[in-house]
Formats: sequence, structure tokens, C-alpha cells
Amino acid sequence: MVCLVTGSSRGLGKAIALAFGRRGRRVVIHYNERKEEASIVAAQIKESIVLSADVRDYNQVRSLVDTVTEQWGGIDILVNNAGVTREALLLKTSEEEFDEVVDTNLKGPVNFMRAASPYMIKQNRGHIINISSIAGVSGKAGLSAYSASKAGLIGLTKSAARELGEHNVMVNAVLPGFMLTDMGARSNDRAKGAALADSLMKDFSDPRDVAEFICRLSGTRGISGQVFNLDSRLI
Ligand SMILES: NC(=O)c1ccc[n+]([C@@H]2O[C@H](COP(=O)([O-])OP(=O)(O)OC[C@H]3O[C@@H](n4cnc5c(N)ncnc54)[C@H](OP(=O)(O)O)[C@@H]3O)[C@@H](O)[C@H]2O)c1
Repeated sequence: MVCLVTGSSRGLGKAIALAFGRRGRRVVIHYNERKEEASIVAAQIKESIVLSADVRDYNQVRSLVDTVTEQWGGIDILVNNAGVTREALLLKTSEEEFDEVVDTNLKGPVNFMRAASPYMIKQNRGHIINISSIAGVSGKAGLSAYSASKAGLIGLTKSAARELGEHNVMVNAVLPGFMLTDMGARSNDRAKGAALADSLMKDFSDPRDVAEFICRLSGTRGISGQVFNLDSRLI
């Protein structure tokens, strides 16, 4: 089984790639800039390949997907995990910042889905899991672009699930809790404090727990178009 995890050089993507690797799956480790980190992840997985692409660029994404299918014959699981945040109030968010966040977090998954789903349709099998965020459901002050991109990703998930169901391709979205990855750790103290205060379990989320859920979800059948909140914050 071939699993492609975008942004698996570090953070949650790394945890997902390692969890797939522990299950003996073939894993594509994808990165944008951090080749060395990606290679370190790949070295811990029996069958892996390391490939780079800027998710914002369709041609790079298409070429990566073609390389994977030439080498391994198809893609069974695509996890759209790569993402960025830029903290700024709406009125102080520049057009460049807005475009960067939306192009990475929303257009990136669109690019991968457009490139990978024809192969999934052809093999009449596949599962796409999009990593969204509670911010895309509830909104977060200072994260307008990020929240908009993650809300868009939920709409994209549901629409693609409707289109691809007849081809036996499932599409779901997952909302991880607040994790102290590079992204989470960079958040300001107020945001971290609010995440803890709102958490019924009074704790941050562990990427390894999120990764285990995603692995299990990827192996299920008959679940599509759903949004899974992996947090103890109430929506
Ligand atoms: N951390 C949280 O609390 C939290 C909560 C909810 C949802 N999420 C979501 O979970 C996902 C993973 O977050 P994380 O915390 O693990 O983030 P992270 O530690 O900052 O890692 C981000 C990953 O995305 C890749 N990436 C960024 N821009 C890219 C681009 N233009 N093209 C290709 N790859 C790109 C990075 O590649 P390089 O290493 O090569 O730069 C890296 O592998 C994101 O979608 C995020 O929005 C996170």
C-alpha cells in the first residue's frame, strides 16, 4: 500500500509517515525545503522515497505524483498535511501573506487531489485525508487567512467526497488538537493559554495520537465526507 504524506519532514506529517512505516506501508516523504529532516524520517522507514515539491505549484506536484506512480504503480492513501500559518489581525494581513497561506493550505491540497485522484479512480480505490483545523470551524482572532483556508478545505473535502464516492475513493478531513510542533510552538502565549483553557482534558495534543487515528481511518471502508475533531475543545 502506497501512502503519500505531504509535509512529512517534521511535525505531524513526520508522525503520520512513521506510523504508516510501522505498519509496513510504502511511504512517500514529501518536503518543501528541509531535505535533511525528510531524509532522517525516511531512514526510519523500510520502504520510502523522499521527494520535494512546493504544494502551491501544480507542475511540481504533478511531477511528484507521476514519479511515485511510475516507481510504485499507484497511490492508495494521500494525506494533505503540509501547511503554514501567519499570525496577523485581518486588517494587518497583507495580500502576500493571505495568498501564501491560502495557496499552501487550500490550493496545495487541490493540486495534490487533482494530480493523484485520476490514479485512484483508475485503480478504483483510494483514501484522501485532509488536515484541517478547529480554526476552520470556529474561527480564531489573528488567524483569518489560516481559518479561511482550513474552512475551505472542509468544503473541498465534502465536495470531493461526493464526486469520488462512486469511484470507491473516500475523502475525509481531520481536525488535530493544538500540538507543540514547530507551528504550534511558534504561536503566542495567549493562543497557547487559550487552547489549554478550552481543552476539557487540560492538555495539548500529541502528534503521535493524531497519527495513529489517521492510520486507522485510512484503513476503514465506507466512511467518507466526514470531519473528525481529535480534540477535547468543544466546537
Ligand atoms: N500544530 C498545531 O497545533 C495544528 C493544529 C491543527 C492543525 N494543524 C495542521 O496540521 C498540519 C501540520 O502542521 P505542523 O504543526 O506539523 O506544521 P509544521 O511543523 O510547521 O510542518 C509544516 C510542514 O509543511 C511543509 N510545508 C510548508 N509549506 C510548504 C509548501 N509550500 N510546500 C510543501 N510543503 C510545505 C513543511 O516542509 P519543510 O519542512 O520542507 O519546510 C513541513 O513539512 C498543517 O496543515 C497544520 O495547519 C496543526
